[in-house]
Amino acid sequence: MLAGGFYYLPVYQAFLWIFLGTFLKVFLQIRQVMKQIAFITGASSGIGLALAQELAANGYELALAARRQEQLSLLVSDVERAGIRALALPCDVTDPVQVKHAVTSAKDHFGRIDLAILSAGISEATSATQFIASRFERLLRTNLLGVAYCLEELLPLMQQQGGGTIAAISSLAGDRGIPGSAGYCATKAGLSTLFDGLRGELRQQGIRLVTIEPGYVRTPMTESFGNMPFAMSAEDSARLILERLVAGDRVIRFPLMPSLVMKLMRIMPVSLFDLITAKRRPVRLKAEES
Ligand SMILES: NC(=O)c1ccc[n+]([C@@H]2O[C@H](COP(=O)([O-])OP(=O)(O)OC[C@H]3O[C@@H](n4cnc5c(N)ncnc54)[C@H](OP(=O)(O)O)[C@@H]3O)[C@@H](O)[C@H]2O)c1
Repeated sequence: MLAGGFYYLPVYQAFLWIFLGTFLKVFLQIRQVMKQIAFITGASSGIGLALAQELAANGYELALAARRQEQLSLLVSDVERAGIRALALPCDVTDPVQVKHAVTSAKDHFGRIDLAILSAGISEATSATQFIASRFERLLRTNLLGVAYCLEELLPLMQQQGGGTIAAISSLAGDRGIPGSAGYCATKAGLSTLFDGLRGELRQQGIRLVTIEPGYVRTPMTESFGNMPFAMSAEDSARLILERLVAGDRVIRFPLMPSLVMKLMRIMPVSLFDLITAKRRPVRLKAEES
């Protein structure tokens, strides 16, 4: 009896191993099928880069867009070393043809886009006394039209696949025109109001629009800014953004104190706002900027 039981043990073990192997294979296949795909513009630097790293750490596969191919390739190698699929998509968001190509390539490669993060953006000073329309045009083309071109490609794709999330990085600076940054503020105000106006209708189609409005974040964009109250690191910002995206927030504003101050500025009477802002030193453009 004992001898017979001993004889059957290897057979049981073989079945056990086959069962475990099949279970593991099916589990890995399901995980692969369920992998979420994120498309990120501005992925070569700052908040976009930190979000790409945070999403990869959470198992997302990544389509990474920006103009600098080298930076994107480095990021792709990093992410792939951790076993996550990633694709570099060199793309200038001010060119609708390049945006179309990037979104189509992402769709062809991964089959779908579950989450799009539109982080590509630039910041430039605006001088009131030396106002130059072409400087404002540059801001508008990147920060606002760049998002519009992405929406034009992403919305039909998400409608076709039955849903998705599009999150754009606006700014607390969109709450009110800050002297010296009027052009930048105008683009971010435009972006936030654009998303406000589109959100309700798209929600009925299963597409979630999210407006992200950060205060100061330490990135290459803000390297020369000097004093930045309540500034956060790009990594902390990315973690917070992802947490709030998962929680289902539609407008993500942070940090709390600057967010409250900017809300107050927004409802402040013009007379008081003008009184405060008149005290600011006017922006003078350098010779090469004008
Ligand atoms: N840092 C802050 O304090 C702060 C606060 C509020 C909001 N934001 C917003 O957050 C977003 C990211 O800013 P950041 O601080 O991370 O700045 P950043 O480090 O300078 O990154 C900007 C990103 O945008 C990309 N980009 C710029 N122009 C582009 C174009 N024409 N086509 C494609 N990609 C373009 C850049 O990549 P390439 O140069 O490789 O193209 C880069 O990856 C921006 O929209 C910014 O306005 C920043």
